[in-house]
Amino acid sequence: MPEVFIDGKRYEYEGQPMLLQFILDQGLEVPFFCYHPSMSIPANCRQCMVKVGTPVKDRETGEFELDENGDRKIRWFPKPQTSCSTPLQDGMVVHTQETSEEIARAQKDNLEFILINHPLDCPICDQAGECPLQIQTYKYGPEGSRFEVKKVHKPKHVDLGPRVTLDAERCINCTRCVRFTEEISETNQLTIVDRGDSNYPTTAPGETFDDPYSMNTVDICPVGALTSTDFRFKARVWEMNQTPSIDITNGKGCNIDLWTRDNEVLRITPRQNEDVNDYWMPDAGRDAYKLFNENRVDRPSITLDENNQSNTSWNNAIETFAEVIEANDPSDITIVGSPHASVEENYVFNKFFNLLGVSNAKFTPHVIPGSGDGFLITDDQAPNTNGCRVINLDETDDGAIQSVVSDAKVVIILSDDLIGRDVLTSSDLESPYTISLATNISDTTKASDLVIPITCVAEHAASYVNVDGRIQRSYPAKETKYTNRRLNLEMSEGRLDRFGTNFDNWVSEENKVDCLPLWEFLNKLADRLGLEFEYNHSREIFTELSNSLDVLSNVSYDRMDEEKGVQLPIKQKEVKA
Ligand code: SF4
Ligand code: FES
Repeated sequence: MPEVFIDGKRYEYEGQPMLLQFILDQGLEVPFFCYHPSMSIPANCRQCMVKVGTPVKDRETGEFELDENGDRKIRWFPKPQTSCSTPLQDGMVVHTQETSEEIARAQKDNLEFILINHPLDCPICDQAGECPLQIQTYKYGPEGSRFEVKKVHKPKHVDLGPRVTLDAERCINCTRCVRFTEEISETNQLTIVDRGDSNYPTTAPGETFDDPYSMNTVDICPVGALTSTDFRFKARVWEMNQTPSIDITNGKGCNIDLWTRDNEVLRITPRQNEDVNDYWMPDAGRDAYKLFNENRVDRPSITLDENNQSNTSWNNAIETFAEVIEANDPSDITIVGSPHASVEENYVFNKFFNLLGVSNAKFTPHVIPGSGDGFLITDDQAPNTNGCRVINLDETDDGAIQSVVSDAKVVIILSDDLIGRDVLTSSDLESPYTISLATNISDTTKASDLVIPITCVAEHAASYVNVDGRIQRSYPAKETKYTNRRLNLEMSEGRLDRFGTNFDNWVSEENKVDCLPLWEFLNKLADRLGLEFEYNHSREIFTELSNSLDVLSNVSYDRMDEEKGVQLPIKQKEVKA
């Protein structure tokens, strides 16, 4: 096995790794800016310098030459090397800033150089708290600067596109954003213009940076030069809670983090998962945070006369629901599951009504042909179409849903805006008594006789099966009116570094939605109807599923956590329009 010595310690390696990535993989640190593991290596920031040497071999014997102490003779490279672009060689000896004063000095001087024109005004920069330049300067940079000249002022507050704002004077020309549009999104919308200390990234004249993945450049910009126009100055990163979750705006299930403060989701960023989305996500998925805060169904509501919907108590909602069920024959009740709801929700929804003698839930995929891009945006607009298939709900097309609805006396719809997505019209729901179990106000909830508010993906632990048959899960990031994050063990707590203030005390009552997890509402309804049906946690629901379905055997929340989701042995069924 080839070997390499880093700061005096021996490591073995396989393949042809680059030195910086290898160092990082060992849990060691070398500061860097322009390198990104998923993109090409321009080696232009010069921050990742290390001292590198290779052992001298006798040309004739091929044996290592030894010095007077019996150690291998090392031929040092004449200058520090950029570790990001240096391939490992067998026997290579490396000194980082930890063991080489020369390297520590080189990195410090390079930072001083980078900071000639970059304003280090972290308290007013929106990147403060998650800025590699700030961190590296603090750890490896100079105490001050020898440059007392006026800083070059490049363009500020430039709307590069609808979602990204440029503050060019902070740019260190690492070219990550440019390479992203060349190599990842392949729109080539950005380039570096001007020369020397005047250069910065921008679009071609008259063009706008409207790449559907544009906001990924904000994540990878190592300084505060590119910021999210929407999120700028809304919150500081250390005030927020970061909770892993799944993008629910299409079928890919990009791994994401939900950033919450005061019980509101304020932004969404991608979470690395090389089997799904690598480091990236579409801009559209980031916008979904609004769905978790705004336009929520809050408290049950009931339509007493024609179009007059008004809030009602939970007791009255449960009583009304139960009376509707008791007054109708199960064969007159149609239930509609949803590719927008989780596996657990669809399962308990179907099971509950099956216990009452109602036939299996129907569901209709939500597909817009041609809207996918073969990368992270799919034709499938829902996060869990395959999840509905896994638990064997009845897959139908829009026409079939219309016909069962028109034959029914009662229609119960789970989390799907069937009117908004043109599967049904409001007149289809006029004659049956319609009950919606929903997270957000929609055309369908407006046309319903009874609306039950249920938790959204940001408020519950649940799983979703993506278009490739990978099951992944969410965690609650927000409290609802009846949950306490300290009692709900699924909920993460504290800030990113897990130190310091327990800012969760900030949670305001008015930011808590008056809703219940679906299973909890069904528990209460079952109680009223005398049904044997009770769950205490979505974990229990999933355990029951994995014990009863071959396709989910060996899958658990713990395994999904450890492996960032589990690939199920299912073939993707062709998703039809
Ligand atoms: S804007 Fe940011 S990502 Fe783009 S080149 Fe400048 S520093 Fe790098
Ligand atoms: S990370 Fe190596 S030169 Fe920039």
